Amino acid sequence: MSKLFMQVQENISLAEHTTLRLGGLARFFISVHSVEELREAISFAQKNEYPIYVLGGGSNVLFSDMGWNGVVIQMSLLGRSYDEDSRGDAQVVACAGEIWDQLVEETVGQGLWGLENLSRIPGTVGAAPVQNIGAYGVEVKDVIDWVEVLDTTTNRLHVLSVTECAFGYRDSIFKHKEGSAYIVLRVAFRLSTHPSRRLEYKDLYEYFGTRTDVSVKEVREAINKIRDNKFPSLAKVGTAGSFFKNPTVRKSVHKELESWLDAPVPCYIVDTDHVKIPLAWILERLGWKGKRLGAMGCWENQPLVIVHYGGGTAGELILFARTIMKEVQEKTSIKIVPEVNIVTN
Ligand code: EPU
Repeated sequence: MSKLFMQVQENISLAEHTTLRLGGLARFFISVHSVEELREAISFAQKNEYPIYVLGGGSNVLFSDMGWNGVVIQMSLLGRSYDEDSRGDAQVVACAGEIWDQLVEETVGQGLWGLENLSRIPGTVGAAPVQNIGAYGVEVKDVIDWVEVLDTTTNRLHVLSVTECAFGYRDSIFKHKEGSAYIVLRVAFRLSTHPSRRLEYKDLYEYFGTRTDVSVKEVREAINKIRDNKFPSLAKVGTAGSFFKNPTVRKSVHKELESWLDAPVPCYIVDTDHVKIPLAWILERLGWKGKRLGAMGCWENQPLVIVHYGGGTAGELILFARTIMKEVQEKTSIKIVPEVNIVTN
């Protein structure tokens, strides 16, 4: 009989493993530190026909109060490697369990450009491609070289190209049926010592003005300050960052909204027919900014961020979110969808 490496814990509170601090119990909870342990955890689940949920830092997930009647696998695979060529280009490979912002801090510390705009995003490296994390004009897909995955149906490793990952706005193959059997093991990033400043996003432009000599460390510092002002501290309240996606709408819908409100509505061009509207702007106009109902509220500096002040339930949060979704649809005819992964089984 093969040696069992992994440790199976039972009835573990998912609230303690998610930044929203909500959700019931995981029937089984296995933290895996190597591919061998991961394979064992998968085989344990498959033999017993338990569904698997792969958890990173728990910063973008809401489990229901019923928890997860199956196996939660917490990815704790660690390791980072650097390969820099004589032209100053570097390939950085990081394992899925690495803390995202520690990787950003380290690459910035080494003078490498590429990840700086994604500073301070909570979560792990493994979650970054799944969610195609993005901030301040950059999405992680812009700097990914490849993603190594384990296919849980065949038990084989694959290296996926950026095209194969089918990245979209907070979206990737991993969130769809075709990629649901894949578990991210390692991610390779293309970084460089040559500056590639991305300072066009409003907040950064306002911070640096027309300066053209900004260093990679200064970009990180700026983003840390901007985020400190906008986002609540994870140490103080429960949150998963933006709770909804910014809606993409037809240009005609945007025009209707402007004439209905008799005011210019901010938007970003998506393609010739569509624009993306910052939902935070709509929520502020609808009076949600800083609004609290029981244990849940919309953050005072960024209404797209839903906050759990403590003592609430996942059910209450879902009700709160539904109330917002309903009001936005009624008042603007725009259908909004959660950005946070809501997990039930
Ligand atoms: N706005 C308001 N009122 C506010 C805040 C914002 O009207 O209180 C309007 C302003 O017009 C502002 C615009 O909304 O210019 C955009 O706001 P912000 O720059 O804060 O960004 P966001 O669109 O609300 C997105 C991402 C964030 C990311 C920021 C910064 C999504 C769902 N969210 O938010 O990502 O940090 O841009 O790039 O795309 C996350 O995914 O969890 C997340 C936090």
